[in-house]
Amino acid sequence: MTLKEYKKNIETLNKFAYAYYTQDQPLASDDEYDKLYHQILKYEEENSKNILPNSPTQRVGDSIQDKFNKAKHLSKMWSLEDVFNKKELNKWIEKISKLSDNIHFYAEPKYDGASLNLIYKNGLLIQAITRGDGSIGEDITHNAKTINSIPLSISYTKTLEIRGEVVIYKSDFNHINKERLKDNKSIFANLRNAAAGSLRQLDTSITAKRKLVFLPYGVGENEFEDNNLNTIMEKIYSYGFIKPPLSKVLFNIDEIEEFYNKMGQKRSSLNMMLDGMVVKVNELDAQSDMGYTVKYPRWAVAYKFPAVEKVTTIKDIHFQVGRTGVVTPVAILEPVDIDGVIVERATLHNFDEIQRKDIYINDQVIILRSGDVIPKIIKALIQRRDGSERKVNKPSNCPVCQSELLDEGVLIKCQNLSCSARVVNSIIYYASKQCLNIDGLGIKIVEQLFKSNLVKEIIDLYKLKFDDLIALESFKDKKSLNLLDSIEKSKGVDLWRLLNGLAIEHIGEVASKAIAMNFALNCINISKESLLTIDGFGEEMANSYIKYMEINNKKVEALFELIKPFVQKQDIIENNFFKDKTVVLTGSMSRSRGDIKIMLENLGAKVSGSVSKKTDYLIYGSDAGSKYDKAIALKIDVLSENEMRDKLENNNET
Ligand code: IVH
Repeated sequence: MTLKEYKKNIETLNKFAYAYYTQDQPLASDDEYDKLYHQILKYEEENSKNILPNSPTQRVGDSIQDKFNKAKHLSKMWSLEDVFNKKELNKWIEKISKLSDNIHFYAEPKYDGASLNLIYKNGLLIQAITRGDGSIGEDITHNAKTINSIPLSISYTKTLEIRGEVVIYKSDFNHINKERLKDNKSIFANLRNAAAGSLRQLDTSITAKRKLVFLPYGVGENEFEDNNLNTIMEKIYSYGFIKPPLSKVLFNIDEIEEFYNKMGQKRSSLNMMLDGMVVKVNELDAQSDMGYTVKYPRWAVAYKFPAVEKVTTIKDIHFQVGRTGVVTPVAILEPVDIDGVIVERATLHNFDEIQRKDIYINDQVIILRSGDVIPKIIKALIQRRDGSERKVNKPSNCPVCQSELLDEGVLIKCQNLSCSARVVNSIIYYASKQCLNIDGLGIKIVEQLFKSNLVKEIIDLYKLKFDDLIALESFKDKKSLNLLDSIEKSKGVDLWRLLNGLAIEHIGEVASKAIAMNFALNCINISKESLLTIDGFGEEMANSYIKYMEINNKKVEALFELIKPFVQKQDIIENNFFKDKTVVLTGSMSRSRGDIKIMLENLGAKVSGSVSKKTDYLIYGSDAGSKYDKAIALKIDVLSENEMRDKLENNNET
C-alpha cells in the first residue's frame, strides 16, 4: 500500500463506519470492513510515522490511566430549568418574549445520559471533557475516541466545542447489566448511571465495549456566523454526527405543545431514553440578549415528560444513616422495568412516610419514576393484601453503631458523632464535586481509610502520609501519590466550598456562598443576628449554623488554618469598570478565555457568546475574526486584552 492508497483506504473505512454507526445504513459487510481495517493496521505497523489521527485504528482503547486530569471547558456548560406543563411553559414564553421580540423556537428530545464536551481544533478532536461543575470537568479523551459516533476529524477547521449527551441504547442496557451480574458487580440502576459510569472507566478497553452513543445537542465556543440554532445543528450533523430524530423549528406555544405531545407518544418506541423535550430560542442574537441566570440560560427550558407509574412489591425496608445522622428508610423492591430502566429501590423520605402511607413489607405498591429522580412510592395497594405482609417497626437503635436514636417526630437521628456511617458519609460529601472536589476519594476508599483508623474526621485527611497509604490493600505507588496530591490540591479552595463541605444541616451551596460573600474569613465567629440579615436566612438555618460553629469551633479553626480558603476581595466586586456590563470575548488571549470569563463574571459582568446591540464591550485577543467585525459594524466599543487589564488596574487605584 502506498501512502496515497493508505489515505484513500482510511477515507473508505471512515465512510463505512459513518454509514454503519451514525446513519444505521451499512455500506459494507463486517468482513469487508475487517479486511480493510487489517490492511490499514499492517501499513501503520510498518509506517508508524505516517499514521493519520483520524484513522479508525486510533480509536482502539487499550490505555489504562491511573486517574483523570481536570480540564477546563472553553465556555461554560449550563444546565436547564424544568417546566412540567403548558401553564409553566407559557409563563416562560411570556417572560422571555419581553426580553426579545420576534423569536422562534427549536425543539429536540432531552436525552437521558451523561453530557460531554468535544473540542475540535484544526479539524481534529483534541479533547473530550465531562460536564463536571460546568466550568471544569474530567479529560476523558481516550475514552471518547472509542465511541464510533464521535468523528475523530471534521471538515470545520476553526476552534469548535460540540456538546452532546452520551447515551446507551435501551437495547444494550440490559445486556450490560447481565454481564455485571456475571462478574458479581452491582447492576446499574438506570441508563444515565450506566452511561456516566462507562465514560469514566480508567481502563479504556471497558469503555470501548459499552456501545456508547454520542448525540449532539449544541455548541460552545465557535466561530459560526449563523444566527439560527437549527442551521448550526445542520452543520454539526453534516460533519458526521448522528442527527437525532424529532427536532423542529416551531413558531408558537400551540406548535410546541403539539410537538411535545407527538414526542411523548413516540417516546417508548425510540431506542434512546428521553425524559422530556428541550425548547430553545432559535435566534442566537435573541439568546444573547436574554442571557443567563446563575444556573440556567434564560433562552431554554426542559419540558419534562410526565412520570411513569408501575406496580411492584416491597421485599424489605432498610435503614440508612446519612452524614447528618438522619436515619432514612429505603424500600427494596422486586425489580421492575420502567421504560427500559430497572428499578430496585425507592426512597421513603422518613419513617413518618411509612406510617402515613400505611406501608408494610410485602405490600404491592405503585411506584413512580420521572427521569432523573430516585423512584418514589405513591401508595400501597391495601386491597391486594393476603396476610403475608409485615409491619415495619420504628428503629430505636442506629442500624450501624447501635447507639440509641433520637426521635424528633418526623426525623429520627443517630446522635453518635463518631458513628461510622455518619463519619464516612460526611467525608465522602466533603470530597464531592460540589464541595472540595477531591479526586479519588470515593465510598470504597473512604471506608478503607476509616476502617484502618487513618481517617476518623475530615482533618485527618491532611495528616495522611505515603507510608500509611502504601500499606493498605490495593494501594500502589501511583494511587497513593495521586490521592495525596489531590488532597493537597484541595487547599486554597473557595471558602464557600469549604463551608458547604462541613455538611451543616440546612446550610447548602447557596447558603454557603451567601455566608462566604458576607462574612469572608470572619464567618466562624458571627452572631445569629448578623446571619439573619442575609436575604433568605431564617431561624432554622441560623440556629443550625451557629450551633455547629459553637460546638465545632476549634476544629473549624484548625481546618481554616490548614486549608487557607480563598476569598474573593469585596472591594473589587463593588467598584469596577466591568460591573453590570455585557461583554463578549474573542480571539486567543494570554490565558484561556474560560479563565477570563470567570474573572469578569466575578466582577459582575455578563459574558455573552455572541455580539448583539446589547453588547457593551468586545474584548479581543489575537486572530479575532467575525465577532470583531460584527462589533465594529454595530459600533460597539472594542478593547484589546491589554486595554482590559489597564481598565482593571486603574479601577483598583480609585
Ligand atoms: S441543552 C443550553 N439539549 O440535560 C443548555 N441539554 O438538564 C445546555 N441534555 O446538562 C443544555 N438532552 O446533559 C440540552 N437536547 C438537549 C439535551 C440536553 C439532554 C442534558 C444535558 C444537560 C442537561 C440539563
